[in-house]
Amino acid sequence: MPKLIIDDIPVEVPPGTSVLEAARSVGITIPHFCYHPALAIAAACRLCAVKLLDGPVKGIQMSCSLPAQDGMVVSTTDPEALKMRSLVIEWLMLNHPHDCPVCDEGGECLLQDFTIAGGHSRRRYVGKKRTFQNQYLGEGIHHEMNRCIECYRCVRFYQEYAGGTDFGVTGSAGRVYFGRFAEGALESPFSGNLVDICPTGVFTDKTGRFRARYWDYEFAPAVCQHCSVGCNTSPQNFQRELIKIVARRNDQVNGWFICDRGRFDKEYLNGPQRPRYPEIGGAPGEYRLALEAAANRISEFCLQNGPAGLAFVGSGRLSLEGCLVLAELARVVGAPVSYFAEAAPAQGSLAAVRLLNEQNAARIHDIEKAECIALFELDLMEEGAMLSLAVRKASLAGAQVFRVGGAREGEKRQLPFRYQEVATLDEVPFEGGSKGVVICGAGGKSPELLSYLASSGARLVMLQPGPNAFGAALVSLERKGATLSDLVESGQIKAVVCFEADLPPWLLERVEVLACADWKRGGLTEKASVLLPTTTWVESNGTSINYEGRAQRFLRSRPAGLPLKGLDPKYYSSETEAVALHPPHVHRNYIPGGAEREAWRVMADLMLELGGEPVNEPLTGTWGKLRDLDPEGEGVRIYDLVSAQELS
Ligand code: SF4
Ligand code: SF4
Ligand code: FES
Repeated sequence: MPKLIIDDIPVEVPPGTSVLEAARSVGITIPHFCYHPALAIAAACRLCAVKLLDGPVKGIQMSCSLPAQDGMVVSTTDPEALKMRSLVIEWLMLNHPHDCPVCDEGGECLLQDFTIAGGHSRRRYVGKKRTFQNQYLGEGIHHEMNRCIECYRCVRFYQEYAGGTDFGVTGSAGRVYFGRFAEGALESPFSGNLVDICPTGVFTDKTGRFRARYWDYEFAPAVCQHCSVGCNTSPQNFQRELIKIVARRNDQVNGWFICDRGRFDKEYLNGPQRPRYPEIGGAPGEYRLALEAAANRISEFCLQNGPAGLAFVGSGRLSLEGCLVLAELARVVGAPVSYFAEAAPAQGSLAAVRLLNEQNAARIHDIEKAECIALFELDLMEEGAMLSLAVRKASLAGAQVFRVGGAREGEKRQLPFRYQEVATLDEVPFEGGSKGVVICGAGGKSPELLSYLASSGARLVMLQPGPNAFGAALVSLERKGATLSDLVESGQIKAVVCFEADLPPWLLERVEVLACADWKRGGLTEKASVLLPTTTWVESNGTSINYEGRAQRFLRSRPAGLPLKGLDPKYYSSETEAVALHPPHVHRNYIPGGAEREAWRVMADLMLELGGEPVNEPLTGTWGKLRDLDPEGEGVRIYDLVSAQELS
């Protein structure tokens, strides 16, 4: 391992580590633009200059592309290095429009930070600036090419990392252009990462432009709830509105990036269609009265039909906390609990938790390092898009990739890697299996097929039909949950109480909905006698377990309640006179629409109404160990904690 000295600090790093990374390992940040830990080295910007005072290499060098070697003595603060870096900043700023006050990147811009840190404050160049035409790049990303510093991060990400083909670099010398080859929406389902990766304001998130500055946002560590990969994100809220979502690094789950669905699909959280107030018989009511009404409906039903005719229903989008308290609520009433409405997803998720263990459940790194990968019964871009980048990495390193049985019906997007089509899994040449991975989709899997998967020796990825479907299946095993469709078809269940559940129309038709708690509207909320609004993941603390059995915590990043933008004037005008100016003009001691609660809290309140014990902490028993899970950590795989074999 090379030993070197950086700014008088002795450092020892693995072979192949760059001087820039060696400095980072001891807390020294060398200014940089083109360097990014996830991308190949370009050494394009020249900002990372340091001076080598002694050892095998001497003089001014680019630290991002210089491997650390034994005996090197590096200075990051030598006057020659400082001068070089300040000149680099000055030339990078020659053509920059100096439009920070009107740039949406202002306040979170690497170029701004290093320009100020490098002491460049006076402009000496008086010539004409080079300018470009911007392009329309779709509804997600705004393009402002004049801000470009030619670091090549965007093109390295888009083409090399994500496999996109419609965006690149053209031109030469002083007129290098980063954009699409013809104007139009970016085609890659990972294009939104350009916003995060560009060190200046060339690409900004069009969906949240000019709404707030970085320091205005409320944010907290979150976990994407769109699929079972569970990518880490940082939602940025302003005045109770989710403005932007950016990727949050977790090397065990999503690395540095997220897919466009996780980034841009957010309007459902802000929209006026969300239930914000309790409803009793379709009319708005108070939370306490709605709870009482729900409890009365449940008690009456149980008196007339017995509790066995009523099911408490959750789903894979309910947090782990919700799943656990739901079982308690059902126990208090003496009714069955169900986490899966239909048989196919239930079979798939239960099979996954029974089959997977610490050894055979593939991690993202197992996919990246696999030599043979089979895609089986899934639409990867729909069910777990970020995993396609891991498959791409393996494929670029020489792995063979097979898609078994051809494209799934409805499969829309191109996979960003080469693959061969085969008819059956038997045709996939797993040799020894130690470096083989099978990726399956959510949905039903026959026992024979599952045993084949297990016996092939390959590691498994079994994507799930919800962000916490894995957790729901574990709790279902532990608390003896049943599949709702089985109970209804057997004639046992006549009514349901649902928490963030989704029932298909045929099932909905066959049951009475005594009460429903949800953050979105649908057939269930329409049919429910009592509706209790719940908070979404941005307004909740919770835990979800992803496809590989990794438990991750997410934290509340904004209070519940209606966004200030678009708020009905009745909330901010005076009692006597409507004032259509900037809210709020009248201070009130409540948040409009703030009646939503986390689903588990609604369950706990309902349980109290029904004569149960108070619930102060939902993660109890075996699950109690997850209470201290660091939301900014990598999460934990639950196999040491909970054994599905023991639960079942
Ligand atoms: S557009 Fe941004 S990421 Fe791309 S080269 Fe220019 S500054 Fe770098
Ligand atoms: S892959 Fe899934 S979890 Fe990750 S960002 Fe996309 S939708 Fe969200
Ligand atoms: S960061 Fe080293 S040359 Fe750009």
